[in-house]
Amino acid sequence: MTRLLIVHHTPSPATAELLDAVVRGASDPEITGVEVVRRAALAATASDLLAADGIVLGTPANIGYMSGALKHFFDTVYYVCGDDTHGLPYGLYVHGNLGVEGAVRAVTGIADGLDWRAVTAPVEVTGAPDKAALEACWELGATVAATIAPT
Ligand SMILES: Cc1cc2nc3c(=O)[nH]c(=O)nc-3n(C[C@H](O)[C@H](O)[C@H](O)COP(=O)(O)O)c2cc1C
Repeated sequence: MTRLLIVHHTPSPATAELLDAVVRGASDPEITGVEVVRRAALAATASDLLAADGIVLGTPANIGYMSGALKHFFDTVYYVCGDDTHGLPYGLYVHGNLGVEGAVRAVTGIADGLDWRAVTAPVEVTGAPDKAALEACWELGATVAATIAPT
């Protein structure tokens, strides 16, 4: 059994829809042997990260950056886990209206610093999530889960 950790900041119904789609994709019955663990970014710990074989990060764009909650997660784990998560497969979704690209740049910059490995392009959602956005989030969850599924 491998473990997919989803670290998310979910302050609204729209962001909850995206998280739900990611969880559904990651939990697809065709992907076996992967336990899906969700943690609010303000509650996620270094132990959660060290126990993970892959990670999905989810955040709104706040002031053109990632949420303070997700930044808090990185501040919590960066130096504690930095040497132990090289190559960790990861995915990212960001929700906002303006400045989404700043949040993507910030998260991917930190993930690069940790030497994590993006297994799919970041999903950027603006406005109310439509069918395409939810499908993209489903695909994101499924892709990271399939990447770490035992063979
Ligand atoms: C402190 C703060 C700063 C924010 N800054 C931005 C921003 O720069 N760009 C943006 O598109 N949305 C911004 N937002 C809105 C959030 O991105 C938005 O609430 C979140 O994506 C959820 O979307 P929803 O409220 O439509 O459900 C901000 C929200 C807060 C609380």
